[in-house]
Amino acid sequence: MKVTVIGTGYVGLVTGACLSEMGNHVLCLDVDKRKIEILNSGGIPIHEPGLEEMVKRNAADGRLQFTTDIAAAVHHGTLQFIGVGTPPDEDGSADLQYVLAAARNIGQHMTDYKVIVDKSTVPVGTADRVRAAVQVVLAERGVSVDFAVVSNPEFLKEGAAVEDFMRLDRILIGADDERARLLMRAIYAPFSRNRDKLLLMDTRSAELTKYAANAMLATRISFMNELARLAERVGADIELVRHGIGSDPRIGTHFLYAGTGYGGSCFPKDVKALVRTGHEMGIDLRVLTAVEAANDSQKRVLVDKVVARFGENLQGRSFALWGLAFKPNTDDMREAPSRVIVHELLRRGAAIRAYDPVAMDEARRVFGDLPGLSFASHQADALRDADALLIVTEWRAFKSPDFEQMRALLKEPLIFDGRNLFDPALVRSLGLEYHAIGRGEA
Ligand SMILES: NC(=O)c1ccc[n+]([C@@H]2O[C@H](COP(=O)([O-])OP(=O)(O)OC[C@H]3O[C@@H](n4cnc5c(N)ncnc54)[C@H](O)[C@@H]3O)[C@@H](O)[C@H]2O)c1
Repeated sequence: MKVTVIGTGYVGLVTGACLSEMGNHVLCLDVDKRKIEILNSGGIPIHEPGLEEMVKRNAADGRLQFTTDIAAAVHHGTLQFIGVGTPPDEDGSADLQYVLAAARNIGQHMTDYKVIVDKSTVPVGTADRVRAAVQVVLAERGVSVDFAVVSNPEFLKEGAAVEDFMRLDRILIGADDERARLLMRAIYAPFSRNRDKLLLMDTRSAELTKYAANAMLATRISFMNELARLAERVGADIELVRHGIGSDPRIGTHFLYAGTGYGGSCFPKDVKALVRTGHEMGIDLRVLTAVEAANDSQKRVLVDKVVARFGENLQGRSFALWGLAFKPNTDDMREAPSRVIVHELLRRGAAIRAYDPVAMDEARRVFGDLPGLSFASHQADALRDADALLIVTEWRAFKSPDFEQMRALLKEPLIFDGRNLFDPALVRSLGLEYHAIGRGEA
Protein backbone atom coordinates (compact mmCIF):
# COMPACT_ATOMS: atom_id res chain seq x y z
CA MET A 1 0.00 0.00 0.00
CA LYS A 2 1.02 3.62 -0.43
CA VAL A 3 1.19 5.39 2.89
CA THR A 4 2.04 8.92 3.94
CA VAL A 5 3.10 9.65 7.49
CA ILE A 6 2.89 13.28 8.57
CA GLY A 7 5.36 14.15 11.35
CA THR A 8 8.62 12.24 11.82
CA GLY A 9 8.86 12.33 15.62
CA TYR A 10 8.84 9.35 17.97
CA VAL A 11 5.46 8.16 16.71
CA GLY A 12 5.61 9.16 13.04
CA LEU A 13 9.08 7.84 12.30
CA VAL A 14 8.45 4.54 14.06
CA THR A 15 5.09 4.15 12.28
CA GLY A 16 6.65 4.93 8.90
CA ALA A 17 9.60 2.60 9.43
CA CYS A 18 7.49 -0.32 10.68
CA LEU A 19 4.92 0.01 7.90
CA SER A 20 7.71 0.07 5.29
CA GLU A 21 9.26 -2.98 6.95
CA MET A 22 6.07 -4.87 6.01
CA GLY A 23 6.47 -3.96 2.34
CA ASN A 24 4.42 -0.78 2.12
CA HIS A 25 5.70 2.27 0.25
CA VAL A 26 5.95 4.99 2.84
CA LEU A 27 6.63 8.67 2.38
CA CYS A 28 7.31 10.59 5.59
CA LEU A 29 6.65 14.31 5.69
CA ASP A 30 7.94 16.83 8.21
CA VAL A 31 7.95 20.61 8.30
CA ASP A 32 11.25 20.48 10.19
CA LYS A 33 13.86 20.66 7.41
CA ARG A 34 16.67 19.69 9.80
CA LYS A 35 14.98 16.36 10.61
CA ILE A 36 14.37 15.54 6.96
CA GLU A 37 17.98 16.39 6.08
CA ILE A 38 19.27 14.08 8.81
CA LEU A 39 16.96 11.29 7.58
CA ASN A 40 17.89 11.80 3.93
CA SER A 41 21.56 11.64 4.79
CA GLY A 42 21.18 8.26 6.49
CA GLY A 43 20.89 9.31 10.15
CA ILE A 44 17.95 9.50 12.53
CA PRO A 45 17.05 12.53 14.66
CA ILE A 46 16.04 10.60 17.82
CA HIS A 47 17.38 7.73 19.90
CA GLU A 48 15.13 4.68 19.73
CA PRO A 49 16.51 1.13 19.93
CA GLY A 50 16.40 -0.73 16.60
CA LEU A 51 15.03 2.24 14.67
CA GLU A 52 18.17 3.37 12.87
CA GLU A 53 18.83 -0.05 11.33
CA MET A 54 15.20 -0.40 10.25
CA VAL A 55 15.12 3.08 8.70
CA LYS A 56 18.39 2.47 6.83
CA ARG A 57 17.29 -0.94 5.55
CA ASN A 58 13.97 0.26 4.18
CA ALA A 59 15.35 3.53 2.83
CA ALA A 60 18.02 1.55 0.95
CA ASP A 61 15.30 -0.69 -0.49
CA GLY A 62 13.41 2.39 -1.66
CA ARG A 63 10.31 1.70 0.44
CA LEU A 64 10.88 4.52 2.93
CA GLN A 65 11.37 8.10 1.81
CA PHE A 66 11.43 11.50 3.47
CA THR A 67 10.27 14.86 2.24
CA THR A 68 9.27 18.39 3.17
CA ASP A 69 7.14 18.63 0.02
CA ILE A 70 3.54 18.75 1.25
CA ALA A 71 1.89 18.35 -2.16
CA ALA A 72 4.00 15.27 -2.96
CA ALA A 73 3.21 13.77 0.45
CA VAL A 74 -0.54 14.27 0.06
CA HIS A 75 -0.44 12.89 -3.45
CA HIS A 76 1.51 9.75 -2.38
CA GLY A 77 -0.59 7.85 0.15
CA THR A 78 -4.18 6.68 0.15
CA LEU A 79 -3.64 6.40 3.89
CA GLN A 80 -2.47 9.67 5.45
CA PHE A 81 -1.30 9.07 9.02
CA ILE A 82 -1.12 12.23 11.14
CA GLY A 83 1.53 11.80 13.86
CA VAL A 84 2.33 15.43 14.71
CA GLY A 85 2.68 16.79 18.23
CA THR A 86 -0.26 17.78 20.44
CA PRO A 87 1.46 19.74 23.22
CA PRO A 88 -0.48 21.27 26.10
CA ASP A 89 -1.99 24.67 25.46
CA GLU A 90 -1.84 27.33 28.19
CA ASP A 91 -5.03 26.04 29.82
CA GLY A 92 -3.83 22.40 29.76
CA SER A 93 -5.99 21.37 26.80
CA ALA A 94 -4.30 19.65 23.84
CA ASP A 95 -3.09 22.19 21.29
CA LEU A 96 -4.52 20.98 17.98
CA GLN A 97 -2.87 23.55 15.72
CA TYR A 98 -0.43 21.05 14.17
CA VAL A 99 -3.08 18.37 13.63
CA LEU A 100 -5.45 20.85 12.01
CA ALA A 101 -2.65 22.36 9.88
CA ALA A 102 -1.83 18.84 8.63
CA ALA A 103 -5.54 18.25 7.90
CA ARG A 104 -5.83 21.51 5.95
CA ASN A 105 -2.72 20.61 3.94
CA ILE A 106 -4.39 17.34 2.95
CA GLY A 107 -7.55 19.23 1.95
CA GLN A 108 -5.46 21.65 -0.07
CA HIS A 109 -3.77 19.02 -2.24
CA MET A 110 -5.95 15.90 -2.37
CA THR A 111 -7.38 14.87 -5.70
CA ASP A 112 -8.59 11.35 -4.93
CA TYR A 113 -9.98 9.30 -2.02
CA LYS A 114 -7.93 9.56 1.20
CA VAL A 115 -8.20 7.98 4.60
CA ILE A 116 -6.94 10.51 7.13
CA VAL A 117 -5.73 8.63 10.20
CA ASP A 118 -5.37 10.51 13.50
CA LYS A 119 -2.48 8.76 15.21
CA SER A 120 -1.61 11.69 17.43
CA THR A 121 -3.24 11.67 20.86
CA VAL A 122 -6.20 14.00 20.40
CA PRO A 123 -9.22 14.96 22.50
CA VAL A 124 -12.66 13.50 21.90
CA GLY A 125 -14.28 15.16 18.91
CA THR A 126 -11.03 15.81 17.02
CA ALA A 127 -11.93 13.45 14.16
CA ASP A 128 -15.00 15.64 13.58
CA ARG A 129 -12.84 18.78 13.66
CA VAL A 130 -10.36 17.26 11.20
CA ARG A 131 -13.24 16.31 8.90
CA ALA A 132 -14.66 19.83 9.11
CA ALA A 133 -11.24 21.43 8.47
CA VAL A 134 -10.74 19.35 5.32
CA GLN A 135 -14.29 20.08 4.12
CA VAL A 136 -13.75 23.83 4.51
CA VAL A 137 -10.62 23.72 2.35
CA LEU A 138 -12.28 21.53 -0.27
CA ALA A 139 -15.19 23.98 -0.39
CA GLU A 140 -12.71 26.87 -0.81
CA ARG A 141 -11.16 24.98 -3.70
CA GLY A 142 -14.64 24.39 -5.11
CA VAL A 143 -14.04 20.64 -5.44
CA SER A 144 -15.67 17.57 -3.99
CA VAL A 145 -13.35 14.69 -3.11
CA ASP A 146 -14.36 11.69 -1.02
CA PHE A 147 -12.40 11.05 2.19
CA ALA A 148 -12.73 9.40 5.60
CA VAL A 149 -11.30 10.30 9.00
CA VAL A 150 -10.22 7.47 11.27
CA SER A 151 -8.97 7.52 14.84
CA ASN A 152 -6.05 5.13 15.40
CA PRO A 153 -4.36 6.06 18.68
CA GLU A 154 -0.82 4.87 19.25
CA PHE A 155 0.23 2.90 22.33
CA LEU A 156 3.96 2.46 21.71
CA LYS A 157 6.38 3.19 24.54
CA GLU A 158 9.46 5.31 23.91
CA GLY A 159 12.55 3.21 24.49
CA ALA A 160 10.79 0.11 23.10
CA ALA A 161 8.82 1.78 20.33
CA VAL A 162 9.92 -0.42 17.42
CA GLU A 163 9.34 -3.62 19.35
CA ASP A 164 5.95 -2.37 20.55
CA PHE A 165 4.85 -1.44 17.05
CA MET A 166 6.02 -4.73 15.52
CA ARG A 167 4.32 -6.73 18.29
CA LEU A 168 1.25 -4.62 18.92
CA ASP A 169 -1.00 -5.99 21.65
CA ARG A 170 -4.03 -4.18 20.28
CA ILE A 171 -4.90 -2.09 17.27
CA LEU A 172 -7.57 0.43 18.06
CA ILE A 173 -9.54 1.76 15.16
CA GLY A 174 -12.34 4.23 15.43
CA ALA A 175 -14.06 4.54 12.08
CA ASP A 176 -17.54 5.16 10.80
CA ASP A 177 -16.73 4.44 7.13
CA GLU A 178 -16.70 0.86 5.83
CA ARG A 179 -14.13 1.44 3.06
CA ALA A 180 -11.76 3.09 5.53
CA ARG A 181 -12.21 0.16 7.94
CA LEU A 182 -11.24 -2.30 5.20
CA LEU A 183 -8.08 -0.33 4.36
CA MET A 184 -7.11 -0.06 8.02
CA ARG A 185 -7.67 -3.79 8.46
CA ALA A 186 -5.43 -4.41 5.45
CA ILE A 187 -2.56 -2.18 6.56
CA TYR A 188 -2.49 -3.81 10.00
CA ALA A 189 -3.06 -7.41 8.81
CA PRO A 190 0.69 -8.27 8.85
CA PHE A 191 0.86 -7.20 12.52
CA SER A 192 -2.17 -9.23 13.43
CA ARG A 193 -1.44 -12.66 11.96
CA ASN A 194 -1.31 -14.83 15.07
CA ARG A 195 -4.57 -13.42 16.47
CA ASP A 196 -6.99 -10.68 15.53
CA LYS A 197 -5.82 -7.64 17.47
CA LEU A 198 -8.21 -5.19 15.88
CA LEU A 199 -10.60 -3.38 18.19
CA LEU A 200 -13.15 -1.57 16.05
CA MET A 201 -15.20 1.21 17.56
CA ASP A 202 -16.55 4.67 16.87
CA THR A 203 -14.07 7.58 16.67
CA ARG A 204 -15.07 9.21 19.97
CA SER A 205 -14.67 6.00 21.97
CA ALA A 206 -11.27 5.42 20.34
CA GLU A 207 -10.14 8.96 21.17
CA LEU A 208 -11.23 8.63 24.79
CA THR A 209 -9.66 5.16 25.14
CA LYS A 210 -6.18 6.56 24.52
CA TYR A 211 -6.54 9.16 27.28
CA ALA A 212 -8.14 6.61 29.61
CA ALA A 213 -5.16 4.26 29.15
CA ASN A 214 -2.52 6.90 29.92
CA ALA A 215 -4.57 8.34 32.78
CA MET A 216 -4.92 4.89 34.36
CA LEU A 217 -1.16 4.24 34.15
CA ALA A 218 -0.36 7.68 35.58
CA THR A 219 -2.84 7.01 38.39
CA ARG A 220 -1.06 3.79 39.36
CA ILE A 221 2.25 5.64 39.55
CA SER A 222 0.93 8.52 41.65
CA PHE A 223 -0.92 6.05 43.90
CA MET A 224 2.30 4.16 44.61
CA ASN A 225 4.27 7.37 45.09
CA GLU A 226 1.83 8.55 47.73
CA LEU A 227 1.88 5.16 49.45
CA ALA A 228 5.68 5.32 49.39
CA ARG A 229 5.54 8.52 51.43
CA LEU A 230 3.29 6.77 53.93
CA ALA A 231 5.54 3.70 53.96
CA GLU A 232 8.48 5.88 55.00
CA ARG A 233 6.50 7.33 57.90
CA VAL A 234 5.18 4.02 59.19
CA GLY A 235 8.42 2.10 58.68
CA ALA A 236 7.21 -0.15 55.84
CA ASP A 237 9.01 -0.99 52.59
CA ILE A 238 7.09 0.01 49.43
CA GLU A 239 9.02 -2.57 47.40
CA LEU A 240 7.59 -5.36 49.53
CA VAL A 241 4.15 -3.77 49.34
CA ARG A 242 4.52 -3.63 45.54
CA HIS A 243 5.23 -7.36 45.40
CA GLY A 244 2.41 -7.98 47.85
CA ILE A 245 -0.27 -6.26 45.78
CA GLY A 246 1.18 -7.00 42.32
CA SER A 247 0.70 -10.72 42.83
CA ASP A 248 -3.06 -10.17 42.86
CA PRO A 249 -4.13 -10.75 39.23
CA ARG A 250 -6.80 -8.09 39.58
CA ILE A 251 -3.99 -5.58 40.19
CA GLY A 252 -1.05 -7.01 38.22
CA THR A 253 2.62 -6.09 38.46
CA HIS A 254 2.99 -3.28 35.91
CA PHE A 255 3.35 0.41 36.68
CA LEU A 256 3.55 -0.02 40.43
CA TYR A 257 7.06 1.41 40.86
CA ALA A 258 7.49 4.27 43.30
CA GLY A 259 10.04 6.79 42.08
CA THR A 260 10.68 10.42 41.26
CA GLY A 261 7.40 10.91 39.41
CA TYR A 262 6.31 10.34 35.84
CA GLY A 263 7.53 12.54 32.98
CA GLY A 264 7.78 12.27 29.22
CA SER A 265 5.76 13.65 26.37
CA CYS A 266 2.57 11.74 27.16
CA PHE A 267 1.39 11.18 30.74
CA PRO A 268 1.75 14.77 32.01
CA LYS A 269 0.08 16.38 29.02
CA ASP A 270 -2.57 13.69 28.57
CA VAL A 271 -3.67 13.79 32.22
CA LYS A 272 -3.88 17.60 31.97
CA ALA A 273 -5.83 17.45 28.72
CA LEU A 274 -8.32 14.90 30.10
CA VAL A 275 -8.92 17.01 33.21
CA ARG A 276 -9.49 19.96 30.88
CA THR A 277 -11.96 18.01 28.73
CA GLY A 278 -13.82 17.07 31.91
CA HIS A 279 -13.89 20.71 32.95
CA GLU A 280 -15.28 21.78 29.57
CA MET A 281 -18.00 19.15 29.91
CA GLY A 282 -18.87 20.22 33.49
CA ILE A 283 -17.29 17.14 35.07
CA ASP A 284 -14.69 17.54 37.79
CA LEU A 285 -12.23 14.64 37.32
CA ARG A 286 -11.05 14.73 40.94
CA VAL A 287 -8.97 11.55 40.88
CA LEU A 288 -6.91 12.81 37.95
CA THR A 289 -6.49 16.27 39.43
CA ALA A 290 -4.97 14.57 42.48
CA VAL A 291 -2.81 12.33 40.28
CA GLU A 292 -1.27 15.40 38.69
CA ALA A 293 -0.76 17.24 42.00
CA ALA A 294 0.85 14.17 43.58
CA ASN A 295 3.19 13.87 40.61
CA ASP A 296 4.23 17.52 40.77
CA SER A 297 5.39 17.13 44.36
CA GLN A 298 6.96 13.74 43.66
CA LYS A 299 9.35 15.29 41.15
CA ARG A 300 10.86 17.16 44.11
CA VAL A 301 11.07 14.17 46.44
CA LEU A 302 14.81 13.59 45.96
CA VAL A 303 15.52 17.29 46.54
CA ASP A 304 13.43 17.16 49.75
CA LYS A 305 15.61 14.27 50.92
CA VAL A 306 18.80 16.14 50.05
CA VAL A 307 17.55 19.21 51.93
CA ALA A 308 16.55 17.08 54.93
CA ARG A 309 20.08 15.70 55.02
CA PHE A 310 22.16 18.82 54.18
CA GLY A 311 19.84 21.77 54.97
CA GLU A 312 18.29 24.39 52.66
CA ASN A 313 21.56 26.08 51.81
CA LEU A 314 23.52 23.87 49.41
CA GLN A 315 26.21 26.44 48.65
CA GLY A 316 29.56 24.69 48.29
CA ARG A 317 27.95 21.24 47.87
CA SER A 318 28.27 19.26 44.67
CA PHE A 319 26.13 16.33 43.54
CA ALA A 320 26.56 13.57 41.02
CA LEU A 321 23.40 12.96 39.01
CA TRP A 322 22.86 9.69 37.17
CA GLY A 323 20.12 9.84 34.54
CA LEU A 324 18.62 12.79 32.68
CA ALA A 325 16.14 11.14 30.29
CA PHE A 326 12.61 10.74 31.64
CA LYS A 327 13.06 6.97 31.40
CA PRO A 328 15.72 4.52 30.18
CA ASN A 329 16.44 3.77 26.51
CA THR A 330 15.41 7.18 25.27
CA ASP A 331 16.99 10.60 24.92
CA ASP A 332 13.62 12.28 25.52
CA MET A 333 13.73 14.83 28.35
CA ARG A 334 10.27 16.32 27.96
CA GLU A 335 8.83 16.85 31.49
CA ALA A 336 11.65 14.70 32.92
CA PRO A 337 12.00 14.79 36.73
CA SER A 338 15.72 15.54 36.18
CA ARG A 339 14.75 19.02 34.95
CA VAL A 340 13.04 19.87 38.24
CA ILE A 341 15.82 18.30 40.30
CA VAL A 342 18.58 20.18 38.47
CA HIS A 343 16.84 23.53 38.86
CA GLU A 344 15.92 22.97 42.52
CA LEU A 345 19.49 21.99 43.46
CA LEU A 346 21.11 24.81 41.51
CA ARG A 347 18.64 27.29 43.01
CA ARG A 348 19.96 26.34 46.44
CA GLY A 349 23.55 26.95 45.41
CA ALA A 350 24.69 23.38 44.68
CA ALA A 351 26.89 22.30 41.77
CA ILE A 352 25.86 19.26 39.67
CA ARG A 353 27.86 16.86 37.56
CA ALA A 354 25.43 14.85 35.45
CA TYR A 355 25.72 11.73 33.34
CA ASP A 356 23.26 9.95 31.05
CA PRO A 357 24.13 7.18 28.56
CA VAL A 358 22.24 8.82 25.65
CA ALA A 359 20.51 12.06 26.71
CA MET A 360 23.57 14.29 27.20
CA ASP A 361 23.20 16.15 23.89
CA GLU A 362 19.52 16.66 24.55
CA ALA A 363 20.36 17.84 28.08
CA ARG A 364 22.85 20.38 26.74
CA ARG A 365 20.12 21.64 24.41
CA VAL A 366 17.48 21.72 27.18
CA PHE A 367 19.58 23.34 29.92
CA GLY A 368 21.82 25.51 27.74
CA ASP A 369 24.67 27.03 29.71
CA LEU A 370 23.48 26.73 33.29
CA PRO A 371 26.08 27.95 35.79
CA GLY A 372 26.81 25.11 38.21
CA LEU A 373 25.79 22.30 35.84
CA SER A 374 28.45 20.24 34.09
CA PHE A 375 28.44 16.89 32.32
CA ALA A 376 30.62 13.86 32.97
CA SER A 377 31.87 11.63 30.19
CA HIS A 378 31.33 8.46 32.25
CA GLN A 379 29.10 7.47 35.15
CA ALA A 380 32.10 6.98 37.46
CA ASP A 381 33.54 10.33 36.44
CA ALA A 382 30.38 12.07 37.69
CA LEU A 383 31.03 10.74 41.22
CA ARG A 384 34.43 12.30 41.78
CA ASP A 385 34.42 14.45 44.96
CA ALA A 386 30.62 14.77 45.00
CA ASP A 387 28.82 15.09 48.34
CA ALA A 388 26.31 12.47 47.19
CA LEU A 389 24.97 10.56 44.19
CA LEU A 390 21.38 11.09 43.03
CA ILE A 391 19.91 8.38 40.79
CA VAL A 392 17.11 9.75 38.63
CA THR A 393 16.70 7.34 35.68
CA GLU A 394 16.84 3.55 35.96
CA TRP A 395 19.32 2.85 33.14
CA ARG A 396 20.58 -0.74 33.16
CA ALA A 397 24.21 0.38 33.58
CA PHE A 398 23.28 1.93 36.94
CA LYS A 399 21.69 -1.21 38.37
CA SER A 400 24.78 -3.08 39.44
CA PRO A 401 27.50 -0.48 39.97
CA ASP A 402 30.93 -0.88 41.51
CA PHE A 403 30.08 0.17 45.08
CA GLU A 404 33.72 0.02 46.20
CA GLN A 405 34.70 2.48 43.49
CA MET A 406 31.67 4.60 44.29
CA ARG A 407 32.69 4.84 47.95
CA ALA A 408 36.23 5.77 46.96
CA LEU A 409 35.20 8.48 44.50
CA LEU A 410 32.42 10.20 46.47
CA LYS A 411 33.43 12.77 49.06
CA GLU A 412 30.69 11.34 51.27
CA PRO A 413 29.53 7.75 50.69
CA LEU A 414 25.91 8.73 50.20
CA ILE A 415 23.24 7.71 47.67
CA PHE A 416 19.79 9.21 47.08
CA ASP A 417 18.14 6.60 44.90
CA GLY A 418 15.04 7.88 43.12
CA ARG A 419 14.41 4.51 41.44
CA ASN A 420 14.87 1.99 44.24
CA LEU A 421 17.57 0.11 42.35
CA PHE A 422 19.38 -1.52 45.25
CA ASP A 423 18.84 -3.67 48.29
CA PRO A 424 19.18 -1.18 51.18
CA ALA A 425 20.73 -3.78 53.49
CA LEU A 426 23.40 -4.67 50.93
CA VAL A 427 24.32 -1.06 50.15
CA ARG A 428 24.49 -0.13 53.82
CA SER A 429 26.61 -3.21 54.57
CA LEU A 430 29.13 -1.84 52.06
CA GLY A 431 29.46 1.33 54.09
CA LEU A 432 27.24 3.64 52.05
CA GLU A 433 24.46 5.77 53.46
CA TYR A 434 21.37 5.00 51.39
CA HIS A 435 18.13 6.96 50.97
CA ALA A 436 15.54 5.48 48.61
CA ILE A 437 11.82 6.01 47.96
CA GLY A 438 9.38 4.56 50.49
CA ARG A 439 11.79 2.14 52.11
CA GLY A 440 11.12 2.40 55.77
CA GLU A 441 13.26 5.37 56.73
CA ALA A 442 11.67 8.06 58.84
N1 LIG B 1 6.10 9.86 22.14
C1 LIG B 1 5.36 8.85 22.51
O1 LIG B 1 5.81 7.92 23.18
C2 LIG B 1 3.92 8.77 22.09
C3 LIG B 1 3.20 7.57 22.28
C4 LIG B 1 1.87 7.52 21.88
C5 LIG B 1 1.26 8.65 21.34
N2 LIG B 1 1.96 9.81 21.19
C6 LIG B 1 1.31 10.96 20.60
O2 LIG B 1 1.72 11.06 19.24
C7 LIG B 1 1.83 12.43 18.85
C8 LIG B 1 3.24 12.73 18.36
O3 LIG B 1 4.14 12.55 19.44
P1 LIG B 1 5.72 12.52 19.20
O4 LIG B 1 6.32 12.26 20.53
O5 LIG B 1 6.02 11.64 18.05
O6 LIG B 1 5.96 14.06 18.78
P2 LIG B 1 7.29 14.75 18.25
O7 LIG B 1 7.26 16.13 18.80
O8 LIG B 1 8.47 13.88 18.53
O9 LIG B 1 7.10 14.79 16.67
C9 LIG B 1 6.14 15.55 16.01
C10 LIG B 1 6.67 15.92 14.63
O10 LIG B 1 5.62 16.51 13.85
C11 LIG B 1 6.20 17.52 13.03
N3 LIG B 1 5.13 18.40 12.53
C12 LIG B 1 4.43 19.35 13.19
N4 LIG B 1 3.51 19.90 12.38
C13 LIG B 1 3.62 19.29 11.17
C14 LIG B 1 2.92 19.42 9.93
N5 LIG B 1 1.91 20.26 9.78
N6 LIG B 1 3.31 18.62 8.90
C15 LIG B 1 4.33 17.75 9.05
N7 LIG B 1 5.00 17.58 10.21
C16 LIG B 1 4.66 18.34 11.26
C17 LIG B 1 7.21 18.17 13.94
O11 LIG B 1 8.17 18.91 13.22
C18 LIG B 1 7.80 16.95 14.66
O12 LIG B 1 8.92 16.43 13.97
C19 LIG B 1 1.40 13.24 20.09
O13 LIG B 1 0.03 13.50 19.99
C20 LIG B 1 1.66 12.28 21.23
O14 LIG B 1 0.85 12.53 22.35
C21 LIG B 1 3.30 9.88 21.54
